[in-house]
Amino acid sequence: MKLNLLRGGRHPRLRRALAASAALLAGGGMVVVAATQASAAAGCRVTYTVNQWNTGFTANLTVTNLGDPINGWTLRWTFSGNQQITQSWNSRFSQSGQQATLTNEAWNGNLGTNASTNPGFNASYSGTNEIPTSFTLNGTPCTGSVTGSPTGGPTSPTSGPTSPTSGPTSPTSGPTSNPPPGTHLDNPYVGARPYVNPDWSAKAAAEPGGSRIANQPTGIWMDRIAAITGTGGARGLREHMDTALQQGANLIQVVIYDLPGRDCSALASNGELGPDEIDRYKTEFIDPIAEIFADPAYRSLRIVAIIEIDSLPNLVTNAGGEAGATEMCRIMKENGNYVKGIQYALSKFHAIPNVYNYIDAAHHAWLGWDSNFGPAADLLASTAAGAVGGYDTVDGFIVNTANYSALTEPYFNINTTFNGVSVRQSKWVDWNQYVDELTFAQAFRQRLTGAFGNDIGMLIDTSRNGWGGPNRPTGPPTSASNIDDFVNQARIDRRIHAGNWCNQSGAGLGERPRATPAAGIDAYVWIKPPGESDGASQPIDNDEGKGFDQMCDPNYGGNARNGNNPTGALPNAPLSGHWFSAQFQELMQNAYPPL
Ligand code: GLC
Repeated sequence: MKLNLLRGGRHPRLRRALAASAALLAGGGMVVVAATQASAAAGCRVTYTVNQWNTGFTANLTVTNLGDPINGWTLRWTFSGNQQITQSWNSRFSQSGQQATLTNEAWNGNLGTNASTNPGFNASYSGTNEIPTSFTLNGTPCTGSVTGSPTGGPTSPTSGPTSPTSGPTSPTSGPTSNPPPGTHLDNPYVGARPYVNPDWSAKAAAEPGGSRIANQPTGIWMDRIAAITGTGGARGLREHMDTALQQGANLIQVVIYDLPGRDCSALASNGELGPDEIDRYKTEFIDPIAEIFADPAYRSLRIVAIIEIDSLPNLVTNAGGEAGATEMCRIMKENGNYVKGIQYALSKFHAIPNVYNYIDAAHHAWLGWDSNFGPAADLLASTAAGAVGGYDTVDGFIVNTANYSALTEPYFNINTTFNGVSVRQSKWVDWNQYVDELTFAQAFRQRLTGAFGNDIGMLIDTSRNGWGGPNRPTGPPTSASNIDDFVNQARIDRRIHAGNWCNQSGAGLGERPRATPAAGIDAYVWIKPPGESDGASQPIDNDEGKGFDQMCDPNYGGNARNGNNPTGALPNAPLSGHWFSAQFQELMQNAYPPL
């Protein structure tokens, strides 16, 4: 039976419901709805007044600062329906799902104590348009009562609202806010307002059409020691955390990625530390990061630490004997420095109550075979068991980080047969036990609960696994000649081989980040920032330790880990982590769900 020679790769791999109580109106024609009470901390008072018609509304706000003077403001709230802001004034807007944000313009950022400002916006909606009941100003829940009153009606209210006599009764529960210091949540994504990295955002927004996704939260990669203080104009870790606070965010996603002998089965993301430099990893990398994480100034941030992509999986499948094994993985297994480094990181971070550790667990086309699945789960467990704090140091695991595996294959599953032949016998599935990430993540979680208990949750990186666009199948095959033909027609994952991992041609943005999307899944997340390359398509001199991996060369014929297939990589790619405009454009075009 076929084993897993696939390595899948170097990168093998929200929202709150408001307890809404607003009244609403209806009827044809324009109506006026007055916001009544909304609860908003000793921080601010908001007046929210609506002029509404069938498909849209205008909201005018008065925001009063009840706290100390501020220089720059961010007002946030969560809609309870499908309201979508289309335009704003006296403010800039952004929206992620139901979470809406207004920030000051350059000229109205200063708000003294008791000073007010008057932003407003137009929005579309359908169904009901309930009035938000909770706001935060710079992250502090507004406690000042929020009163609103209609300001002159629309021009032609034929029949006004049948007067919501009893407006919203004052909101009892708003969005989940920050847990008190010391509280460690089961799922940090519930009630989260994730940090949007302005460095990534600016690159995304500068691309034509990029503003459609530029406000999505993405991973902050600590991919070398210098990243802690900031490299190449990008923010350092502290600056990111400070900016997160300014945004009113309460969650930040930080990738911990600098193990000695990093990326042992590939070259594109080789790192700066040699295989034996475990002491530098601890003292120059993990210690300073842990010190920043532990700063009480950041206690209100839920810090999600994504721990060391690909490392432990590489020890299971690429460290000796297998067709795809490499000398560096063998060395890292033998010297134990991947395991020691991860144990050290888990121990240090676990001591900080607002840090949440998620260890990388590759993806289905890497660990989905029985021969890898159990051994990988056992290695994850034994590694955690050796950390100070044991299994409790781990909140969960992440799969598909920086990979392209489809979340769900809609037109076949692992039990599908064609003419009596199982899809497992197709070249594409290749005897794997899973055909997509969601089923793999849920099954792997189940296996891991044995050691880690039921509290663990999974994250799935859906940044680039959308597979929309013109080549996406629209239904199960209607005519196929054999099992390979059937699977190749049915699958939405259009890669040449599931072991391909570098800058995949045809891929699209996947599910937008959100909390609790499916059983056992804490969140869909965008850890790999879309638009950042997986590796250069030809050798490029650099001072980042990055090598040239032929899996990123579109003209390479492949290796044992991708069944000697073409790589499917896009041409003209820059170094891993560098901006790749052409890929970003294609990811948007092939997004699924579409943008
Ligand atoms: C790759 C790169 C790393 C970069 C990351 C996110 O792993 O090696 O430098 O930060 O991708 O794009």
